[in-house]
Amino acid sequence: MCGILGCFGSENPYSLIRSSLQRLEYRGYDSCGVAISDRDKIHSYKVSGPVSGLIQRAEISGAISGLGHTRWATVGTPSAENAHPFMDCNADIAIVHNGDLDNFIELRESLLLRGHHFSSDTDSEVFAHLIEESESNLEPIQRVNSILSKVTGSYALGVLFRSSGVIVGARHESPLVIGTNSSGGFLCSDVHAIAPYVDHVIHLEDGDLALLDTTGVSLFHGDKPVTRTSHPVSWDPAEVDKAGFDHYFLKEVFEQPKIIRNSLEGRVRLTNPTIDLANELPNMPITGKIGVFGCGSAFNAGLLGATIVSELIDQEVGAHVSSNYNRRLLTKDLALAVFLSQSGETADTLATLKVAKSAGIKTIAITNVPNSSITRLAEFTLLNKAGLEESVGASKTFTSQVIDFVLLCLWLNQTDISSLNDTIVDMHNLSNHLDHILDTYQSMEDIALTISNASSIFIIGKNLSYPIALEASLKFKELAYIHAEAIMSGEIKHGTFALLTSETPVIAIAKSGDQYKDVVQTVREIKARNAPVIVITDQADAFLNVADAVVTVESSLPIGFSLEASMIFQLLAYRAAIAKGCPIDRPRNLAKSVTVK
Ligand code: F6R
Repeated sequence: MCGILGCFGSENPYSLIRSSLQRLEYRGYDSCGVAISDRDKIHSYKVSGPVSGLIQRAEISGAISGLGHTRWATVGTPSAENAHPFMDCNADIAIVHNGDLDNFIELRESLLLRGHHFSSDTDSEVFAHLIEESESNLEPIQRVNSILSKVTGSYALGVLFRSSGVIVGARHESPLVIGTNSSGGFLCSDVHAIAPYVDHVIHLEDGDLALLDTTGVSLFHGDKPVTRTSHPVSWDPAEVDKAGFDHYFLKEVFEQPKIIRNSLEGRVRLTNPTIDLANELPNMPITGKIGVFGCGSAFNAGLLGATIVSELIDQEVGAHVSSNYNRRLLTKDLALAVFLSQSGETADTLATLKVAKSAGIKTIAITNVPNSSITRLAEFTLLNKAGLEESVGASKTFTSQVIDFVLLCLWLNQTDISSLNDTIVDMHNLSNHLDHILDTYQSMEDIALTISNASSIFIIGKNLSYPIALEASLKFKELAYIHAEAIMSGEIKHGTFALLTSETPVIAIAKSGDQYKDVVQTVREIKARNAPVIVITDQADAFLNVADAVVTVESSLPIGFSLEASMIFQLLAYRAAIAKGCPIDRPRNLAKSVTVK
């Protein structure tokens, strides 16, 4: 992952880069660094840990340009030595890199044999030494371009030349945007981090390079000048405000009722119930098997969406982890492949999308970020209405991905819609039910405390409840650092019972309906083994004298039940994390945008 940044033409590049890096930290925060050129010297500042550890101000007279980097370690441990930017042996060139180089071991060995000195264990540093070896009488853009054919792998690269202060950017399979304002140019891994400073942005394509110098910004594809579309940037400071909440995560959980209303508006009609996505997805009649792909919470949203759809209509739909798909099945019998990604940049999801496209399968991206890589690769895009999600742990984007995917599948099966009045009413009621949970969630504090004291918990669910359990376990792991395992409730007796003690709370998700009785029976068996049991259900009676605590949800219909239960888990994970003093928005070792495989 990592976030890279470069700016040319600013009066105080250090301060600007430092504050922009804080907005890039969602891409990684195990170490960071800044390099500034005053044309005499490259001044370098690096720390292990987040950007707050970098000195506040660096007074460098004559500074005109610089690079910044925030890291999520791939090659080399998190440390100040492995923090970018890296310099060549003469300290004439500094580089920052996001991506993964496949052939860096060979490159590094041959550079060492030719007498280069490395200061880090990273793959990225080879860029600095390769550019050092390029012909110094060439223009900076030519020097960078001349070495790109030597590297294999992915990169968004920023290069700073000491003597001129110019910056060159290059992109291959890692995102890179160029921003402009009246006084200079920027390069950055995303728009969000530089939005307060620029008027327009350009999204580079693979193979593009950019030159930032006194004349402004010039773009190239290989060695040929190229023009790319420039988009105006709008910047809403309210989006990055915590709005009075202690953490972005909680703010984003509270936004969910509004996001559901936004997701339905203009798409779903309550009177004479219909779903219509034709404005957003024109000319899209599809029949046949649907596959949905994603990683982490996006996969969980896909699995939950697929399970809801198969309960509601007669549509074949399978959910797959993008990093673990079966190429033969993917290319064989799918009519439509749907890709869920909050960031639109997850490397494994983009790779799967490319496979589907090359097999001639219709592709749709459901994403939260307009102009992200996924929107440029997929044939069609359905934009989430979630708005910027700052917390690394997904909450509102999970909910909006589920809603958008279900709407898509229902819309594609228009013939069944007449029998789906209840579902549409359920979706409309959902935001009120979530508001109610938010009003009363403090009453769950005791349950959160029980969970926070455990080192291991199990979450059981059957059918529809299983994807809810998967997402819940991810929330407990990443927010509260508790080992949490989702298990299909019928499976817990086939081995996991051996781990049950009075110290291992089990949370059972029990939805009324066909298999409710089975879950009641499983809960009795768990209690007989002395494990504390918490039940989340729409039908509490069977558990009242059995479970240690019961939380009820209002809806008994698939969408309402699932998303109410999911929000209860988000709040429990948050409160457990608070009780343990966890950092909430920036959990250790994680990053929000996973741009490496
Ligand atoms: C968990 C979480 C991650 C992401 C995953 C995919 O809370 O946020 O598991 O869901 O990294 O990211 P996107 O949706 O950007 O493709």
